[in-house]
Amino acid sequence: MNFRRDRNARVICVTSGKGGVGKTNVSVNLATALAAMGRKTMLVDGDVGLANANILLGLNAPTTIADLITRNACMKDVVIEGPSGLCVVPGHSGSGVSLAMPASDRRRLAEAFRPYADRLDHIVVDTASGIHAETLELVADSDTVLLVLNDEPTAFMDAYAMVKVLASDHGCAEIAIVTNMVASDHSGRELFRHFKEVVRRFLRVDLVHLGSVPRDNHVREAVFRKRCLVEAFPGARASVAFNKLARRFVDRVTPPTIGGHRFFGLEEALSGAC
Ligand SMILES: Nc1ncnc2c1ncn2[C@@H]1O[C@H](COP(=O)(O)OP(=O)(O)OP(=O)(O)O)[C@@H](O)[C@H]1O
Ligand SMILES: [Mg+2]
Repeated sequence: MNFRRDRNARVICVTSGKGGVGKTNVSVNLATALAAMGRKTMLVDGDVGLANANILLGLNAPTTIADLITRNACMKDVVIEGPSGLCVVPGHSGSGVSLAMPASDRRRLAEAFRPYADRLDHIVVDTASGIHAETLELVADSDTVLLVLNDEPTAFMDAYAMVKVLASDHGCAEIAIVTNMVASDHSGRELFRHFKEVVRRFLRVDLVHLGSVPRDNHVREAVFRKRCLVEAFPGARASVAFNKLARRFVDRVTPPTIGGHRFFGLEEALSGAC
């Protein structure tokens, strides 16, 4: 089997420069919206430092992504079901497990994902903030790099630094942007236009604006209720925006980014995964 050609699942890595810009909320709500649209979707909590995607969904996580490595657990023992049939791979906080793992561990992790490459349509990966080599590798290996941007000056500058390192050191040719916590669609478009202008001056990378999510108190309210926003408040402005964003992914034919064929670092078909 040709792994590159036959793979169905497209990996969307959600990233940012600065922390706290809304990556986890974007990941959880985008993944749930995709699942509700009938797409076979998996949400992977790749933030192994401060895992909290399952908390946002109110799900208990008896086993986590770390068990795939440390206990050699099978993926089916780790995956839990979220809303609308979403598959969730919970992350692990504070165990000392990091994505900066030896090659053999990375390979074991990649092999665990292998059987899902053809079964799923989308794999949404929430990541840790900041420019750490191990996070960047995971991000650069994805089919879509989805960068969350907001209008705080520090978030803007850190997003620029992230784009720079992804483009210059990791060969990312296209980066998708979602503008979050904006006042309106118009201000989201303006923020993107400004960001793109700055990036174009210094870097060779294509930026694509996939949409805006407004600042909406329902996001916070959903977090307190440990429910996913799009499920708890489907009529909220931010939910409407997340559904629109998901629709963009359903309608979009995503060309693999450089390195995207590798699928969690797997260069070729492997057998024997559980
Ligand atoms: N569109 C929004 N409207 C209002 N509040 C929001 C919105 N998006 C995110 N938030 C709030 O911003 C805070 C940070 O969100 P989130 O945890 O998703 O960010 P993050 O980028 O994953 O953070 P970290 O870098 O720590 O992982 C949370 O309190 C969340 O409720
Ligand atoms: Mg987060």
